[in-house]
Amino acid sequence: MYWRTRLLESEAHPLPPLYPGLLPIIGHTYILLGDTSKLWLTLKKICDYSLQHEGVISAKLGFQIYYFISDPEDALVAANTCLNKHFLYSFANYWLGEGLVTGFGDHWHRHRQMLKSCFSLPVINRYIEVFNSQSRILLSSFERSTGKGNLYPTEHINTYTLESSYATTFGKTANDETTLQQYMKATDEMVSLMMKRFQKFWLHGDFIYTLLGYKKQESELVKFRDGITDEIIQTKSSFFNESKLNTKSTYVSYQPFLHLILEQHTKNAFTDQEITEELHTAMVAAYETTSISLQTILLMIGSFPKVQERMYEEILQVLGTDRDIDKEDLRKLIYTEAVIKESMRVVPTSPAIARSVDKDVKLKNYTMRTGSQCIILLHGLHRHSSWGPDADQFKPERWLDPATLPAYVATDATFSFGKRSCIGKTYAMTSLKIAVAHIVRKFIITADYTKVQYQYEITLHPVSGHDISLERRN
Ligand code: HEM
Repeated sequence: MYWRTRLLESEAHPLPPLYPGLLPIIGHTYILLGDTSKLWLTLKKICDYSLQHEGVISAKLGFQIYYFISDPEDALVAANTCLNKHFLYSFANYWLGEGLVTGFGDHWHRHRQMLKSCFSLPVINRYIEVFNSQSRILLSSFERSTGKGNLYPTEHINTYTLESSYATTFGKTANDETTLQQYMKATDEMVSLMMKRFQKFWLHGDFIYTLLGYKKQESELVKFRDGITDEIIQTKSSFFNESKLNTKSTYVSYQPFLHLILEQHTKNAFTDQEITEELHTAMVAAYETTSISLQTILLMIGSFPKVQERMYEEILQVLGTDRDIDKEDLRKLIYTEAVIKESMRVVPTSPAIARSVDKDVKLKNYTMRTGSQCIILLHGLHRHSSWGPDADQFKPERWLDPATLPAYVATDATFSFGKRSCIGKTYAMTSLKIAVAHIVRKFIITADYTKVQYQYEITLHPVSGHDISLERRN
């Protein structure tokens, strides 16, 4: 196979082992075809192949070379060197502009520096009251469903994370649940459009995408979303400018993201457009990832009764039978935190991240070529041999002794690592811990995580088999 050998050896930097099934001209592009359930199976196979080949393999998708990395050291080098996102993210530009998730180069760097303080621990600690009150609403909604057979928790949990994100972003609770649900639906539809565009290479260019009506669909979704949030942003912006910010009216005792960013606005750090983009980015980045993670955690807890009982005992000991959770409690819920981390290790919410290789990048055994793309396989990293021979098993105890964890875990791959890792990690962990503690204190959960089917749509969505059964503890 002359062309295969040429591809591997041409240019200054030979490629790592190629993923099987390379075809002339189209390379591996066909492996992207099919629905997003198939895409997840493909991604898992790629992870396995990468792990079997020292953690770095290559593939040819479209006209580009892709590196798939599951070796921890190489992944860290790639994450810290390749700071610009894969072109897939540009499909979200119309939706999120140049917010942190999609931003590039200096623009991203400047925003990241300025927004750091908005996601700091003292800020997040003030959101604890929101997470507590939203968790209680979630409990009531679970309560109404107990005794009615198995329940798919997605909608209930989506409401918890969406309402929490909305409150911490905009500083008010939604007074119209239907509108929020529609916001959520619009976001889901937008992500599905992006995935469709990524999988079908003929939709990459604007011409066919527009011709087939997808651009119009996108515009309508954006218009709808802006209809919901523009008024809030403008009202609060003028309140802020007139120095009328107070805790009365719709305001609350914490500093929502909108206030924090408006404070920066007064120093001319952001334009109006940039504020809107960062607010939508925070909403989108927060609500779905946290919702999926919470579903995964409940599934794992429900599948491992002994783990659940140990958690229950810890929660009862730290919190007692009914009071709200405070920041001191969060520190003490050590086993609960271990269960959360282990659940997200075994079933990663974001199984892979994609970056552009803008200059040659030296890995341990290979050099990634300028102009190629690299996929850091978080799912592969979570199964790497550095976790030990039981990497495939669900063992929350592994998190209790940091000495036994792989070195790279210090930065926790679930939230990615390096300079572009998740800025909302503390927010997410706080929200998850509070919701989980409230739920486990009140309900016995039964589930079977082995039955769950997933779709890969940037995040990993459970689509069937993720029903749980809830029984009130007392
Ligand atoms: C369990 C929930 C979450 C998970 C699993 C998660 C995961 C991730 C991952 C893997 C990335 C890196 C993407 C990449 O490198 O391409 C990321 C980035 C990001 N996350 Fe999260 N995230 C979660 C919650 C949140 C929350 C609650 C917020 C905001 C309140 C947030 C805001 C962001 C932002 C703004 C970025 C982009 C950072 C940058 O590029 O500088 N995330 N997240």
